[in-house]
Amino acid sequence: MAFHSLSTWSQTVLSCLLLLAAAITTLQEDLEGGTKHLYQNANSDKEDDICVSKDDGQCTKFKRLLRLEGHEVGHIQEVEIQDGKKHLMKTFNMKPLIFEIPDFFTEEECDRIIELAEVQGLQSSVTHNHDRSSGIRLLDRDGDRKLSLTEMRRTIEEGFDLYLVEEDLKKLYSELDLDVNQDGFISKDEMQRVSVPQMKAYLLNLIKEKPVKKSRMSSQTWIYPDRTNDPLVESFQQRISRLTQLPDIMINSNSYFQVVRYGKEGHYNAHHDSGDNFNYPCCHTVEHKKCEICRYATIMVYLNNVEEGGETAFPVANNETYDEEIFRNSGIMNLNQYCKHANLKLFPKKGTAVLWYNHFINETTGWMGSVDKFTWHGGCPVIKGEKWIMNRWIAASPDPKKDLGYS
Ligand SMILES: *[C@@H]1O[C@H](CO)[C@@H](O)[C@H](O)[C@H]1NC(C)=O
Ligand SMILES: *[C@@H]1O[C@H](CO)[C@@H](O)[C@H](O)[C@H]1NC(C)=O
Repeated sequence: MAFHSLSTWSQTVLSCLLLLAAAITTLQEDLEGGTKHLYQNANSDKEDDICVSKDDGQCTKFKRLLRLEGHEVGHIQEVEIQDGKKHLMKTFNMKPLIFEIPDFFTEEECDRIIELAEVQGLQSSVTHNHDRSSGIRLLDRDGDRKLSLTEMRRTIEEGFDLYLVEEDLKKLYSELDLDVNQDGFISKDEMQRVSVPQMKAYLLNLIKEKPVKKSRMSSQTWIYPDRTNDPLVESFQQRISRLTQLPDIMINSNSYFQVVRYGKEGHYNAHHDSGDNFNYPCCHTVEHKKCEICRYATIMVYLNNVEEGGETAFPVANNETYDEEIFRNSGIMNLNQYCKHANLKLFPKKGTAVLWYNHFINETTGWMGSVDKFTWHGGCPVIKGEKWIMNRWIAASPDPKKDLGYS
């Protein structure tokens, strides 16, 4: 594998810590299974119970984890998410499956949520998992012992959460006098000209000067239903329960939600809401930090109309095939720059809720399976006005007993 030659290279060159991106390897392994058949099989046999044997050999029956049927784009189902009130649930997309529910909140309710958030106060959104204490992980993915522009861009994206375009990289090369022979590649000898602290200082300064280059620019706050007795928050819980038809215990645990405000140029580059490296326990089932964030479904509600921009983009939706490397190399996860290249976009509309499933159903267990890679999504930059949304995730794990409170 390319990683081995890279590790010798970078150790001799930069004496920097080269940590192999385990997550990337896992994703590649997942993809070999192919996601295609999962689209065809999801939902077949929904009625069947799942038998989970207990220690004494007895069988406890679980219902399958429900994934609503989309049927086809444009399909409309009537749902009663509030007593005596009919709502429409429209199938917006099939790959990934996305539903749109207009008027999920009334205008007054949207304003009320924004008010709740403002009273609490919002903080700048931060992305995690970027450990800057060690060296720089050089992503020489093709193992040719030099970094192409794409490899340098990804090195900086994955190490610093900073999304640069070619022009920014050229500027970095020239200011640090990196690319001596101007061939667009940074070789071992060229890399040696710059110290790790020097390179880091340059990038950290860039983050400070141009925060818009970060993956995410927004502010947010968390609302915990069990810490407020606002009737709207309670009603929200009920609406989600009726909409998703998932067991109450799954709706009522991990029930906090997030209110996010995007100002001018505010955006969030493409990401997955959930992970499926089930070598780690799901975070909602354990106390410790080494865990995977497991969010079966996402419900997002637009709380205002945006004057211009701020679409929710799904850059690889409906793509014939999907390849993680091709996607990351293409740069289109940088929605701040390349929103127009996204395959699918939703326009914010005050009160409309959007529901999608981040995971497939595992046909063996009938419960939560692998991540639907086509759910890469994010927020396009706000061009005019501001954008307010709320995000609510429904946590699930691969183990029905954990989610249903049997263990
Ligand atoms: C999208 O589909 C096309 C056609 O199959 C393919 O060439 C391209 O690599 C795909 N994109 C990604 C990100 O996998
Ligand atoms: C489904 O679950 C089984 C049992 O946990 C597991 O062995 C298998 O790898 C899973 N399949 C997929 C496609 O994730």
